[in-house]
Amino acid sequence: MSTTIAVIGGTGMNQWPGLVIEKRHDVDTPYGKPSAPLLEGKVYGVRAIFLARHGEGHKLPPHAINYRANAWALREAGVKSVVAIAAVGGIAPWFPPAGVAVPHDVIDYTYGREFTYSDGSEGSELKHVEMTEPYSERVRRELLHGALAAGIDIAESGVMGVTQGPRLETTAEIQRMKRDGCDMVGMTGMPEASLARELGLDYACLALSVNWGAGIMGNGDIHAEIHQSIEIGMGKIRAILSRALPA
Ligand code: HPA
Repeated sequence: MSTTIAVIGGTGMNQWPGLVIEKRHDVDTPYGKPSAPLLEGKVYGVRAIFLARHGEGHKLPPHAINYRANAWALREAGVKSVVAIAAVGGIAPWFPPAGVAVPHDVIDYTYGREFTYSDGSEGSELKHVEMTEPYSERVRRELLHGALAAGIDIAESGVMGVTQGPRLETTAEIQRMKRDGCDMVGMTGMPEASLARELGLDYACLALSVNWGAGIMGNGDIHAEIHQSIEIGMGKIRAILSRALPA
């Protein structure tokens, strides 16, 4: 494989409709199996790989995803750039459902996940990777240019807070995250971003707001809100990706 671009699809993006699949790679890694086979093919003439983060049947909850195997498998496949699609809850007033953003920073509230390759096991190396800027500025720019070319409004930055899930947050938790400076909340952004950094992958996130964070806006049916926003938002995500990919 000589692929360099990968998309990790999250909730609402269990497949990549633009991708013409040529091969399925059912791979294994020293950390176990990735969430799903790597689907390799072409999208608008560009070679790319798609990985369904929650598995092919969307069954894996955020805390049970093998983030280490996923990043490892992508690197072994020759991937250099990773775009992570994430459905999130909006916390900042500028991030309503169906809005899209490219976060520039992250706060990790997760626990109990296998979060590093520097785990002290035999043969592992102790690395203190830098996370001052957790996302690749190059991939972030490509996504923003893609949005511009597609004529889609996008927030150029934002802080992603990552919670453990699978439950949604309480009102007080969202208020605390707001005080911490979080603009959005998801459940899978970490350790995905830091593992990608450990492996030297250029990783950025394209976040789609699918609901308001708990307690922010009334008491509507959050699941109906999520469903509706995914319908609208995924069209935007596909349009951005198609323009962001190098021709
Ligand atoms: N909280 C955490 N993760 C999420 C949310 C949320 O409200 N919506 C989508 N992913």
